[in-house]
Amino acid sequence: MGFSEKQEAFVKESWEVMKEDIPALSLYLYTMILEISPEAKGLFSFLKDTDELPKNNPKLKSHAVKVFKMVCEAAIQLWEKGEVVVSGSTLKYLGSVHLQKGIVDPQFEVVKEALIRTVEKAMGEKCSEEMKDAWSNEAYDQLAAAIKTEMKQEAAALNV
Ligand code: HEM
Repeated sequence: MGFSEKQEAFVKESWEVMKEDIPALSLYLYTMILEISPEAKGLFSFLKDTDELPKNNPKLKSHAVKVFKMVCEAAIQLWEKGEVVVSGSTLKYLGSVHLQKGIVDPQFEVVKEALIRTVEKAMGEKCSEEMKDAWSNEAYDQLAAAIKTEMKQEAAALNV
């Protein structure tokens, strides 16, 4: 079944709320990532040498916002085009950053769970199973699949 107008509306509605509170929600996303997977700390340049999550760290905020925003854009594309199409240069960049960092499939699941918890935190009582599903099992999964495919292609090309 394709992505529905209602699912797109759920994602857009929550992004409108989330973008008003980026610094706090960025920290929350990372709190959740580290709660689910403490070893993820070593992956991020801005976390590995600190015991606390750095408040107002531009890199921390940037990654969180890219995850929120790109998943939101993926939802819009799913509704408008029926698929997630990340532009070639952006996809290449995403593929190479995550390949260099050695990100593996289970870590994509960690960020997905942390993202769902962040949507729940932001939306409170307005958060429904359908809303979480639209973010995670549709928009995030398809975006993550595009990034993973690009990572595999780049890894294969580098081995040649
Ligand atoms: C849909 C999912 C994701 C998107 C859209 C995304 C996006 C990005 C982007 C755009 C960058 C470049 C730096 C920046 O501009 O902030 C980046 C860096 C990075 N990403 Fe992701 N990412 C995703 C998932 C993940 C996952 C699952 C992990 C692993 C836990 C991860 C780990 C990293 C790391 C370690 C960096 C380098 C950050 C640093 O140390 O400065 N990302 N990501």
